[in-house]
Amino acid sequence: MPAEAEGPNAPQAAYWNGPMTRAWARLHDRIDTRFAPILDLLLDHAAPQAGERVLDIGCGSGTSVLALAGQVGPTGRVLGVDIAEESVAVAARRIAAAGLSQAEVVLADAATYPFPPASFDLLVSRFGVMFFLDPVAAFAQIRSALKPGARVVLAAFRSAAENHWTTGAAAAVRDLIPSPPPPGPEEPGQFAFADPARVERILYGAGLQEVRLTAEDPLLRLGADAAEAADFAMTVGQVSRALHEAPESRREAVRAGITTFFRAHQGAGGVVMPAAIWLVTARA
Ligand SMILES: C[S@@+](CC[C@H](N)C(=O)[O-])C[C@H]1O[C@@H](n2cnc3c(N)ncnc32)[C@H](O)[C@@H]1O
Repeated sequence: MPAEAEGPNAPQAAYWNGPMTRAWARLHDRIDTRFAPILDLLLDHAAPQAGERVLDIGCGSGTSVLALAGQVGPTGRVLGVDIAEESVAVAARRIAAAGLSQAEVVLADAATYPFPPASFDLLVSRFGVMFFLDPVAAFAQIRSALKPGARVVLAAFRSAAENHWTTGAAAAVRDLIPSPPPPGPEEPGQFAFADPARVERILYGAGLQEVRLTAEDPLLRLGADAAEAADFAMTVGQVSRALHEAPESRREAVRAGITTFFRAHQGAGGVVMPAAIWLVTARA
């Protein structure tokens, strides 16, 4: 376990270093394939320039770090930060294999890591900033690492109700595997940035400026067919988390239930459903 096991985000450190989230490290290929349209949106909004210094919060297995490093080139720099040991190890291996000396990842809680002050031109995150216990304090400390006027571009999920691709699948098998109660509106979690007023309060409260939220609904191809989409849902997201609490004997019934759910969304191009996200932009 990382040292962050003792810090302010200790429960999240335990969660992101535990069995429910291992897929983000071990099966990142599957996630990356499906979430590629979200990374594209993030990079379009961020428009990284050659030579820029970029900070990637909650970088996971490093897919965005690699993409950013390619865009800033050898004269730039990308620092990825993540609290999950296994994901950081995967990211470090991928960076080394790609020979990208301008990229680096550290295992740390972004809310407390001693970043060099005023050193980054751009802050990005794909789904890595919704998990701080005290988000205003976390963003205030992250902001201190940004140069004045630096760009901030974050992808975060909108509400659970709008993200039917994952919550609909969980609802379809609720009788078999009840989902744990959702976190409260001020608690960390997948949908903690759903409320735009809360996001503005956090980011302005942390000293950022020009906060804008743009709703985007990128289409995710969840599988070539319903069976493949169900397999993915059992790996990542609401269903997979609920499965951890359920007896092994329920797995096949759950698989059948979510396969039926996804069959209703299957078309000629496979199972394609929109994700509801905010593209959040701001300036330091
Ligand atoms: C939903 S995953 C997204 C991973 C990656 N950005 C991607 O899109 O594939 C959220 C990530 O945020 C990381 N995370 C959560 N709390 C964090 C914190 N306080 N500091 C750094 N990383 C954190 C988790 O370990 C996890 O890798």
